[in-house]
Amino acid sequence: MTLPHVTVIGAGQVGATTAHLLALKGLADVTLIDVVEGLAQGKALDMSQSAPVEGFGGSVRGTTDVAALAGSRIVIVTAGLARKPGMSREDLLAANANIIGPVAERVAKTAPEAVLIVVTNPLDLMVALALQRSGFPRQRVMGMAGVLDSARLRAFIAQRLSVPPTAVQGMVLGSHGDLMVPLTSSITVHGEPVTTRLPPGELEGILQRTKDGGAEIVALLKQGSAFYAPASSVVEMAGAILRDRHAVLPACAWLDGEYGLRGVCIGVPVQLGAAGIERVVELPLTTEERAALAASAKQVSDGIRNLAAVQASAK
Ligand code: LAC
Repeated sequence: MTLPHVTVIGAGQVGATTAHLLALKGLADVTLIDVVEGLAQGKALDMSQSAPVEGFGGSVRGTTDVAALAGSRIVIVTAGLARKPGMSREDLLAANANIIGPVAERVAKTAPEAVLIVVTNPLDLMVALALQRSGFPRQRVMGMAGVLDSARLRAFIAQRLSVPPTAVQGMVLGSHGDLMVPLTSSITVHGEPVTTRLPPGELEGILQRTKDGGAEIVALLKQGSAFYAPASSVVEMAGAILRDRHAVLPACAWLDGEYGLRGVCIGVPVQLGAAGIERVVELPLTTEERAALAASAKQVSDGIRNLAAVQASAK
């Protein structure tokens, strides 16, 4: 069976875990690319040797050569620096912009039909940059954050209530940072509103822990940031596209009037299928949620302006 070709750029923890999950789930023939000689090749060789044990048939290849992007259905970009303890995602702006800008240009040249999924932080700004530098339509450029932030929220609630993690549903929208917007009204446990199961004070604590979810792991690891849940999250998005599932997942998308926002990219529910973002799903938000989303979008807009200034001064 021929599988679609998915390329993962960056063979660090997130990239390698993503590549392995794509292979394990039988979703793709995977190419892992990294600038560090031997890194992608070594990890890919190792993964391909798990195939007889795990029983997957797809190939996993590693290379330093970006020409291997050719023919990709999806390109997942994980390249860039990760946070160290005490750093915000925004502290990575200049360094990672210098990586993502050229990568997006290269993807546009070598895999012009691909869907581009960005994972590198600061997420919302790197998606804006990738969109601009690839010249791709907004349907084919998105960022992974909402699935991860929602998964953290769902995991914390499931642990607290001792229910299976999949019994908890809920979405986190907005930017991937301090101003993320958990939709409290959307959170259910076995279909019941979470507010019937948890007192407001406790729910508030869980929402705050979700917002700090990345930093909590950075502080524990000391070197690098989270990668298991980020990889699972981006593979969920890739699976929806590769299998044309029309699944509605929260993801960072460029808005053109949806939610009353324009010229900014931010986490919103999107329907994902073979073409990429088939539509932005406009949920009815409470007044408070709408205001929180607008505040989050304002922060991203300011960031996009700052990014333009950083890039102009680097020229
Ligand atoms: C996190 C990083 C990947 O949230 O942004 O863990």
